[in-house]
Amino acid sequence: MIDIKDRVKSAAAAAKITTAEKAVEYIKDGMNVGVSGFTPSGYPKAVALALAAKVKAGAKIKINLCTGASVGPELDGELAKAGVIARRMPYQTNKDLRDAINTGKIAYFDMQWSAAAQNIRYGFLNNRRGIDVMIVEACVIKDLGNGQIGIVPTTALGNTPSYVQTAKQVIIEVNTTQPVELEGMHDCFVPLDPPNRKPIMIERPEDRIGTTYVPCPIDKVVAVVPCDVTDKTRSLAAIDDDAKKMGENLVDFFNNEVKAGRLPKNLLPLQSGVGSVANAVINGLVNSNFEDLTVYTEVIQDGMFDLIDAGKLRVASGTALSPSPDCLKKFYANLAKYKEHLILRPQEIANNPEVARRIGVIAMNTAIECDIYGNVNSSHICGTKLMNGIGGSCDFARSGFLSVFFTNSLAKKGAISSVVKFCSHIDHSEHDVSVLVSERGVADLRGLSPKERAPLIIDKIANPIYQPELTDYFERACKACGNSQTPHILSEAFDMYERLAKTGTMQKK
Ligand code: COA
Repeated sequence: MIDIKDRVKSAAAAAKITTAEKAVEYIKDGMNVGVSGFTPSGYPKAVALALAAKVKAGAKIKINLCTGASVGPELDGELAKAGVIARRMPYQTNKDLRDAINTGKIAYFDMQWSAAAQNIRYGFLNNRRGIDVMIVEACVIKDLGNGQIGIVPTTALGNTPSYVQTAKQVIIEVNTTQPVELEGMHDCFVPLDPPNRKPIMIERPEDRIGTTYVPCPIDKVVAVVPCDVTDKTRSLAAIDDDAKKMGENLVDFFNNEVKAGRLPKNLLPLQSGVGSVANAVINGLVNSNFEDLTVYTEVIQDGMFDLIDAGKLRVASGTALSPSPDCLKKFYANLAKYKEHLILRPQEIANNPEVARRIGVIAMNTAIECDIYGNVNSSHICGTKLMNGIGGSCDFARSGFLSVFFTNSLAKKGAISSVVKFCSHIDHSEHDVSVLVSERGVADLRGLSPKERAPLIIDKIANPIYQPELTDYFERACKACGNSQTPHILSEAFDMYERLAKTGTMQKK
């Protein structure tokens, strides 16, 4: 067995060291199972693999799986393939899981990240308060005395503090591939629930309000499992010309805002969503003149490590590290340096709307598509098929100082326009979107009515291939509706999707 004795500082916890196969016996059919992890970082691996193997061998177990966000293939992938997951919340990016969701095999509760933990505390999942079994990845277990231990999390914090707090039983996976030096990077805090909740005392991204470990009564711990499986972080797409252009467009926009006196010279705390586009856009700031930047976000991706390397980022507060495999290696090799700039918080705090509004976060997220009035779809393809989920975008888009969405003007080599007449699914309504950016330009929608927005979005964001059709639709819709507040011809509003379904392209032949 892998030796974890040096990492388990509590004798009572050390007495519970066992195998993943034994630990899995605590997981029963129908349970709410919580796990640590957020993006493929900091999730339990050994127990997940043992559970998948047990079910593949014939055990009848279906669970409701509650994570922080997406997790790695050993967990989402293997459990989805083995048919273990009945219900899943609050976010995913795994292909096998997505296929199972889109074919009705798994019920998916897709929700904003900041509210996931409180949903569990309030008893909103299966009318049951809390988690039955929580599996948490740790790098160290501390002895706090008085029957308490401190679980030192690893590369993600996610919903771990709340899930541990509400769990009836806790399984701790001590992962020897995660450096013990991660200790000190986390800021664990669980707010009280209404009517007793207090203000969250964060006024700057660097403020700390909690502990560096997740407190847990030793009595709840049923198993401590050694593990040496690494995080399977995902590679990001290379930064292409379009992504570079979006980054440049954003920097120009920021420069104008500073000149106009609407933003300070070092901007306001930046939030940046998941994915290759968001990462590329953050990377655009590396070559800008902005300095002393701060980040208040959920995932800390490669671009932010590059900003630290360039000496431009003072502090990044997030809930998870989400680097590419190469960047993860760079992080481990230079942990002491990066630790000075990084804080990992529970996602309820990292994405907290109260904090985002107070400190004036600049929300920057990626859209799958937008429509001519500025509604944004970030979760569904052609209105019905789930892509990933809404993630943390709405936590920030609605509460930030500015709400910026990026999209390429085209998808699938031009067969799809990312600007449509009416979004087939809306995650962020026109009321929450202040700026749209594509490789073609910036549409500043602040203070504009829907009819003022449409020509701007078509001109600055849409691709010339689709501009004539969108303009024609808008002009005819204005006439057909007598210039109403938001003109549409409902019988045509979705015809680009119908054309795509019938001919494989939104382009008119
Ligand atoms: N119609 C159909 N498919 C589209 C599309 C459109 N209008 N726009 C993009 N896509 C497809 C791309 O072709 C690509 O497909 P592939 O995986 O088959 O290559 C896929 O969507 C991802 O797009 P990509 O351009 O590579 O961008 P990305 O990696 O930055 O992901 C989102 C974009 C929107 C899917 C991703 O950011 C997301 O899931 N966001 C929602 C959650 C969120 O915003 N969280 C924010 C807080 S972290």
